[in-house]
Amino acid sequence: MIALSLAEVAAAVDGRLVAADPAATVAGSVEFDSRKVGPGSLFVAFPGEKVDGHDYAATAIEAGAVAVLGSREVPGVPMVLVDDALTAMGRLARAAVDRLTGLTVIGVTGSSGKTTTKDLIGQLTARLGATVAPPGSFNNELGHPYTALQADPDTRYLVMEKGARGVGHVRYLCELVPPRISVVLNVGTSHIGEFGSQDAIALAKGELVEALPPDGLAVLNADDPRVDAMASRTQARVVRYGEASDADVRAEDVTLDERGHPSYTLVTPEGRAPVRLRLAGRHQVGNTLAAAAVARELGMPLAELATALGELGLVSTRRMDVFDRPDGVTVIDDSYNANPASMAVAVRALASMGQGRRTVAVLGYMAELGPFEYDGHAEVGQLAAELGVDRLLVVGEPAVPIHEGATAVANWGGESVLLTDQAAAVEVLRSELRPGDVVLVKGSRYRTWEVADALRADAGGESTR
Ligand SMILES: Nc1ncnc2c1ncn2[C@@H]1O[C@H](COP(=O)(O)OP(=O)(O)O)[C@@H](O)[C@H]1O
Ligand SMILES: [Mg+2]
Repeated sequence: MIALSLAEVAAAVDGRLVAADPAATVAGSVEFDSRKVGPGSLFVAFPGEKVDGHDYAATAIEAGAVAVLGSREVPGVPMVLVDDALTAMGRLARAAVDRLTGLTVIGVTGSSGKTTTKDLIGQLTARLGATVAPPGSFNNELGHPYTALQADPDTRYLVMEKGARGVGHVRYLCELVPPRISVVLNVGTSHIGEFGSQDAIALAKGELVEALPPDGLAVLNADDPRVDAMASRTQARVVRYGEASDADVRAEDVTLDERGHPSYTLVTPEGRAPVRLRLAGRHQVGNTLAAAAVARELGMPLAELATALGELGLVSTRRMDVFDRPDGVTVIDDSYNANPASMAVAVRALASMGQGRRTVAVLGYMAELGPFEYDGHAEVGQLAAELGVDRLLVVGEPAVPIHEGATAVANWGGESVLLTDQAAAVEVLRSELRPGDVVLVKGSRYRTWEVADALRADAGGESTR
């Protein structure tokens, strides 16, 4: 972060210095994991039931931390004492970004594709200037300030993912790190169990454009009616992207090659240019258009933009990571997480890559769907069957509605198998896969990863992407 004296830190977080030199300067990183602390760091100690950060305060000082931001005194340790370290970290982030006058903050939200699109935007802005957009999500009240505090006076672009599990969450994240450009991707059904309805999700996601200043920019998906309608909720300018014929930044003539890589004609007010993506999946058309709208706003010329889009790669792991094994099996590792919309795009990608090949989908349970629990799963199964996926491996008892949705499709030529757990799925895959097959692995986190990792390990190592 920018260098701040402990007196400035204390003022920013409304804290009290204990056994600390007010003139000592935090010039290093702000860390809550003592193992990451280096010279000049500020260590943030969170209280916890299992692990209490204060127990690591002395270790952090030994590792070079200037002081510890925490909520109880630790004898012999220089401290910035506050009521709540998480709130304090948020306020510190705000104080730091407020001092960075040359910084443009870009926020991304939506039900699916936030991390992916944040990574795409970060790759484009890195061509224009120093960028902070670390891999992974960092989209909550902890990850957000943690990421923002990585910006320093050289940073020109800070690209932030804003997650929400309820109304008011995005607004709070925007108070911590106010965006000048806000991108809203879609309003789906992830976390709908907590939100209650899609309209509530739209209300929550739209807080990102409400937070914009009048000279800011809202980048809205013209193909999603709930997102398009957010134009009325901002005082900022609006740029609409999508495949809609009246979108400002749009894709025409979209095609997919046999690897599921989309090509399209990029159309902007400045003209037209051909784009050929290295990324897999039709959903990347919209994601790359959103990123293009941001880069265009920041001054990237059309020709350079089209080239840059074609060079975009994957940054965060387990999101549409396609790799070929030496035995001729192609694996789509999309195992990071899942909701009905992201399951649908992944199954479509599988179908498009599987033309003339046998397709296998290993699908797991999607959490937090509340009243949509049954239909959310059944519709994915139905889609897979309608698209002609050859083999469906449904993993875990709660995912059974996927199986039911698929088997209810009349005349489906494929077959669905119910498996108790991931190990059983791996066993079936090991005995059944043959050269030429395309396998999609998708579900909500943790154990689903095991299937993708087993398929990788069987191939004798790392991704060959
Ligand atoms: N624009 C999109 N619409 C629907 N699904 C998408 C989109 N972009 C990505 N996905 C799917 O969502 C999955 C999760 O993507 P990710 O970028 O991690 O989303 P988030 O950060 O919003 O959870 C991807 O692996 C892909 O299957
Ligand atoms: Mg994410």
